[in-house]
Amino acid sequence: MKKYQQLAGQISEQIALGVWQPNDRLPSLREQVTISGMSLMTVSHAYQLLESQGRIVARPQSGYYVAPPVAPRADAAPRPQVTPDENVDINTTIFEVMQASRESTVLPFASAFPDPRLFPLAQLTRSLAQVSKNAGPLSTIENLPPGSAALRHAIARRYALQGMNISPEEIVITAGALEALNLSLEAITAPGDWVIVENPCFYGALQALERLRLKALSVPSDVNEGIDLDALADALRTYPVKACWLMTTCQNPLGVTLPPEKKARLVALLCEHGAVLIEDDVYSELWAGREKPLPAKAWDRDDAVLHCGSFSKCLVPGFRIGWVAAGKYARRIQHLQLMSTLSTSSPMQLALADYLETRRYDVHLRRLRRQLAERKQLARQGLLRHLPQEVTVHFHEGGYFLWVALPPGIDAGELCVRALAHSISIAPGKMFSIANSGASFFRLNTAWGWGEREERGAETLGQLIRQMMK
Ligand SMILES: Cc1ncc(COP(=O)(O)O)c(C=O)c1O
Repeated sequence: MKKYQQLAGQISEQIALGVWQPNDRLPSLREQVTISGMSLMTVSHAYQLLESQGRIVARPQSGYYVAPPVAPRADAAPRPQVTPDENVDINTTIFEVMQASRESTVLPFASAFPDPRLFPLAQLTRSLAQVSKNAGPLSTIENLPPGSAALRHAIARRYALQGMNISPEEIVITAGALEALNLSLEAITAPGDWVIVENPCFYGALQALERLRLKALSVPSDVNEGIDLDALADALRTYPVKACWLMTTCQNPLGVTLPPEKKARLVALLCEHGAVLIEDDVYSELWAGREKPLPAKAWDRDDAVLHCGSFSKCLVPGFRIGWVAAGKYARRIQHLQLMSTLSTSSPMQLALADYLETRRYDVHLRRLRRQLAERKQLARQGLLRHLPQEVTVHFHEGGYFLWVALPPGIDAGELCVRALAHSISIAPGKMFSIANSGASFFRLNTAWGWGEREERGAETLGQLIRQMMK
């Protein structure tokens, strides 16, 4: 265990023992340096960890305090661990929220997209011009499913950098990760099959279940720990589960990344019950820390994980290029693709392959991760300045979403409607859940930077929440 984790553990224990009571002010960072004999960096990491776990809260210009006690909810009846839903019906809700947030005058806190100004668009345009000029007459045919050989090789080489042996033959290029995920689900299931999703989860998974008439098993995911593997094991024992669609790195909307041992256990559990994992890894390049986390696919020994990735979140959303490392399912996925979209745009595939050849990608990714991390910190500080103390802003390093918990009884759907009247969009928790449990949460996109407009937006959100609390 690292030093900062030890210190965080000690302080947690003191809080549990009542040494520090709710709302007590903790020793400042400098005081803690003197008490513990640890460096300022270590102490600061320990406080950040405790904050991300919801045990303490930072109050600007004041210091760190023990988090207020969580008030018991009015509807405190024990919630079932796994929520089955035989008739997923969510698309209308999602469509309505997304339509309402589309105007360019609306502050895009609800957006799922990153700020395109962070991307090397000039270089990509150069690559596109270059490949368009040089494309031979057979280019479109050559790049039909499974997609451009050059691009599949480039993707396979990136897996190899992480020590993963994925052959270009197993990779199918798709129209964004969304097509990869949908085709994977379709390849593995038939209407009426049970599929595990997380609660909360990326709404695209719920829409896919609705479209393919699949039955959902919603397994709770904790904002700090990620998916509850005991509940998952329960679901696997109780239902004949065909597939499980989830995120193991920078989960959308929570932001949590599972530790390696949990990823390994997840794969082992699913394999034990003959269920296939469809791993949605679209934020894999937006990691934080020392090294890129391995996906759950790295523990797959039975060809039972379909790993779906994308360039939309880290390089260029508009090209709509993603892929699936589909192993033995690659052929079936190509068949399904031929029956639906036929293929991914050939010039876009070639332009990406050309760009990846230049080796500028990693330089760009390093800068992008740094910029996103700065923006996320600024957004979090801005929210803490303006939102009432009773609101919790859950924070994880990596990715660009914050998951915000409103005080009990305050409905994020209602806040969403009121905020839109002030040209501010937020993504309410009900978009990410079929288990009726996300009502008091919302997701906030921090990738667009934090300036005057965002500061005023946070101030307005704070005022609206206070009004609703009265
Ligand atoms: C978790 C998650 N998966 C998949 C997608 C779709 O990715 P793409 O744009 O590559 O289709 C998104 C986009 O918002 C997402 O947030």
